[in-house]
Amino acid sequence: MLFSILTLFPEAIESYLDVGVLGIARSRGLVQTRTIDIRDFSRDRHRTVDDRPFGGGPGMVLKPEPIVEAVEWIEARHGPHRRIALTPDGTPFSQQIATDLSGLRDTDQPNVLLLCGRYEGFDERALRHLDFERLSIGDYVLAGGELAALVVVEAVTRLIPGALGDTRSAEQDSFTECSSGGLDHPHFTRPRIFRGMEVPEVLLGGDHARIAAWRRKESEERTASHRPDLTQKSPGLTQKSSDE
Ligand code: 6GU
Repeated sequence: MLFSILTLFPEAIESYLDVGVLGIARSRGLVQTRTIDIRDFSRDRHRTVDDRPFGGGPGMVLKPEPIVEAVEWIEARHGPHRRIALTPDGTPFSQQIATDLSGLRDTDQPNVLLLCGRYEGFDERALRHLDFERLSIGDYVLAGGELAALVVVEAVTRLIPGALGDTRSAEQDSFTECSSGGLDHPHFTRPRIFRGMEVPEVLLGGDHARIAAWRRKESEERTASHRPDLTQKSPGLTQKSSDE
């Protein structure tokens, strides 16, 4: 899989891609990443990429030409990409979208282009001309799409077999099939007593059925308390608890 990331801050992106799951997945050749500096596609000697908005208002808008020319350049070299613009007015990113994108690795077009906005946004014509999809990572406003692009790359990469040491850890996380769409249960490791707080007794006994039942109950309680919206949206959760 290839992620091509268009940004005004390639250095900020690259340092994060080097560490952890992303660093390992890249060194194993499971994903490739390319960062492209939008400024390299400006036309003037000041390397201008933005301009004032027509109609007035605060802030600046990314000009369409550098974006469109950068995309055309990347696609001429690496083939067509699934084109995604990171913007707070996009579709909310989710585990389901991460799973869909990670499925592209088995197709003949495993390339994803992530366009990071800055300033007030992009000239609308760049996105329309190239038929970009739009993704947001949540209901808050960031100064740019770079963090959002990294969120997408990491969420997708860790789903690729071989990217995590133990494939079960991806399957059992919050929001995936095995946890019935709810939140994860609490975790404990040694020492057994930390500052007077003991590890729940059930986890020490080795009774795997009891442990599984305890974890399911904790997961359901946590979901109901922190994310009641997930309980409503996820029939798997309510079904499981009423079975018991
Ligand atoms: Cl994708 N971009 C920006 N600038 N802010 C955001 C976002 C993206 N998602 C949530 N807030």
